[in-house]
Amino acid sequence: MPNDAIILEARDLTMRFGGLLAVSDFSAAFPRGSITGLIGPNGAGKTTCFNMITGFYKPTSGQVVFGGENVEGRPPHKLCRAGIARTFQNIRLFTNETVLENVMIGRHLRQKTSWLQTLVFTPASRREDREIRARCLELLDTVGLADLAGEKAASLPYGAQRRLEIARALATEPKFLLLDEPAAGMNPQESEDLMGFIRAIRDTFGLTILLIEHDMKVVMGICESLYVLDYGQTIAIGPPEAIRSDPKVITAYLGEEQAHA
Ligand SMILES: Nc1ncnc2c1ncn2[C@@H]1O[C@H](COP(=O)(O)OP(=O)(O)O)[C@@H](O)[C@H]1O
Ligand SMILES: [Mg+2]
Repeated sequence: MPNDAIILEARDLTMRFGGLLAVSDFSAAFPRGSITGLIGPNGAGKTTCFNMITGFYKPTSGQVVFGGENVEGRPPHKLCRAGIARTFQNIRLFTNETVLENVMIGRHLRQKTSWLQTLVFTPASRREDREIRARCLELLDTVGLADLAGEKAASLPYGAQRRLEIARALATEPKFLLLDEPAAGMNPQESEDLMGFIRAIRDTFGLTILLIEHDMKVVMGICESLYVLDYGQTIAIGPPEAIRSDPKVITAYLGEEQAHA
C-alpha cells in the first residue's frame, strides 16, 4: 500500500567504495511538504546519500521508493523527469552560458516538441521556446536574478550562482528537491535570506525539501526534522531541539572541531 503522506522513502541504503563503507543502512521517510536536514561532519556520507537517492550512484544495497514506486537503479535524468531534482555541493553551472540559458537547460527536460521539430524550427517549437523563455525569466525573478538574465553565469558572485542552480532545479518542475550545502560560501546576510527563500519555494511550488547544510543557524532555523550521519552511520534522528542537545551528535561535531584544530 503506498503511503500518500510520504513522498520519498530511503530503505537501508548502503554504499561501499572498495573497503570503505561510506553509508550504512540509511533509512528515512520524507513527509510531503516537509523540510528535512541531513547533517554530520565532513566525510560522514551525506553527499553519497544524495547521490544514491538521485540515481548518480547505484547503491550497493537498499531501495529508494518515490511516490510509492521502487525507483532504485533508474538514471538521474529519469528520476529528474519523475520529479526528483538536486543542486550540487560543487556548483555545476554552464559557466560560458548566460544565466537565462542555464535555467532553460533545466526546463528543456519538460519540453513537449520533439528533437526533430526543434531542429526544423516548426511554429510549435518556436512557440514552446518562447513559453520556456518566459517561464524561466519568471523563475529567475523568483530567485532574484531576473536583472542578470543576460550575464554569463561565471560572472555571478558565489551566492547568486547557488541561487541560479536552485532556479535550474526548479525549472525541471520537481516534487522533491535536494540541496547540497546551499549556504556554502554565503555571507551571514545571504544565509539568512536563503532560509526565507527555501521556505518560500517550498510553499510556492508545493515541494518537499531535503538539505545538507553545515550552517547550523540555517539547519535549525528551517528544518522540521534532522538526520545525523557520522562515518556512514545514522547516529540520531529527530527535531532540531532534540538533536542540538544529543550527546552523540555533540561528540561527533566536537571530534570534527578537534580534528580541524
Ligand atoms: N566516488 C567515490 N569513490 C570513493 N570514495 C568516495 C566516493 N564518493 C565518496 N567517497 C567517500 O565516501 C565518504 C563519504 O563521502 P561524502 O558522502 O562526500 O561525505 P559528506 O558529503 O558527508 O562530506 C568519504 O570517505 C568519501 O571520501
Ligand atoms: Mg558532501
